[in-house]
Amino acid sequence: MNKLRIGSVGLGRLGYEHAFNMAKLIPDCELVALCDIAEDHLKAVAKELDVPNVYTDFEEMCKNPDIDAITIVSPSALHPEQIRIAMDYGKHVFYEKPLGSTIEACKTAESAVEEHPDLIFMLGFMRRFDPSYLDAKARIDRGEIGRIILVRSYTQDPISTIEGTLKFAPHSGGQFLDMCVHDIDLVRWFSGAQPERVWGIGGCFEFEEYRQWNDGDNVSIMLQCDDETMAFMFAGRAAAHGSNVETEIIGTRGALRIAAVPSPNLLEIFDEYGVRKECYQDFVSRWHQAYINEIEEFCRCILDKRHPEVTVYDGTATSRIAYRCKESFEIGEMLKIDWKN
Ligand code: NAI
Repeated sequence: MNKLRIGSVGLGRLGYEHAFNMAKLIPDCELVALCDIAEDHLKAVAKELDVPNVYTDFEEMCKNPDIDAITIVSPSALHPEQIRIAMDYGKHVFYEKPLGSTIEACKTAESAVEEHPDLIFMLGFMRRFDPSYLDAKARIDRGEIGRIILVRSYTQDPISTIEGTLKFAPHSGGQFLDMCVHDIDLVRWFSGAQPERVWGIGGCFEFEEYRQWNDGDNVSIMLQCDDETMAFMFAGRAAAHGSNVETEIIGTRGALRIAAVPSPNLLEIFDEYGVRKECYQDFVSRWHQAYINEIEEFCRCILDKRHPEVTVYDGTATSRIAYRCKESFEIGEMLKIDWKN
């Protein structure tokens, strides 16, 4: 197999980015099919990217014997069922976080993966493929900052994209599941420890709409792991300045900071407002290279017949922690995480 033939489902905010990258920028794959229920948009994207097969029904796409692998970038609640369908048709699967909207749904995905050990299954935690996060991870593993004491992480969408963010909100799963899963994954990835207790808090500071989904527009989590590593994370939907993802890892021998200023380049602007740097205005431009890198890794895993480092169990674990944070936010208490059930 020289080039992987990929079919992709979901052509929304992130689905289009993945489709574009696969069609134009990733040499190991060929985008041969697209699926979305929005037919006009589907046809327009297929024409733009020169993709020969289009489907409005996911299973129909999976029946196509000329497709080797499927990328799932549809609404989160659909992921477990689509994972099962794709794998039952013998397709390798890459899917976007989160794994599922309930633990039971995550277990459905786990059993599909366990039933198909020869198929490659990869979860899209793209921060693990961003050059700065990879550098931080390598330094931590080399012991450069000693033992991790605290991971502090901010994930903010910009207010400039609030219209799309609000449209996405009903099927996002909420801030804890949709945004904080990335930060929760980083805590587990950097420390190798398992979160043991969490306290989720938050509120609606500007967009009351979020109350109808039992959510806040800005939320935070305090978390402690089984080896005492601490974490604090903050997720917000409407930052005034731009798309802001900042992470700090404080260790016993030093600290690492990633993107303390969320600026795409080294430019500083001197004008009537003073001296300033511009910020990323959307998540797609911030993570563009990481999105390419993760799909490249997915292709390499299939071609080299090896499984990726990140597993389906990482998907269930982060989802389990995120749900517990949401529960904690809803009842206003710190909660332990039950790893037995
Ligand atoms: P979106 O709402 O912008 O797009 C969803 C797309 O799926 C739409 O085009 C819609 O027509 C299509 N769709 C809905 N039901 C469908 C069905 N039954 N069959 C086929 N297509 C269907 O959503 P967005 O923001 O692109 O998110 C998609 C997934 O990607 C979500 O799971 C989200 O959590 C994840 N995501 C991950 C990010 C990351 O940085 N890793 C960033 C943004 C989203």
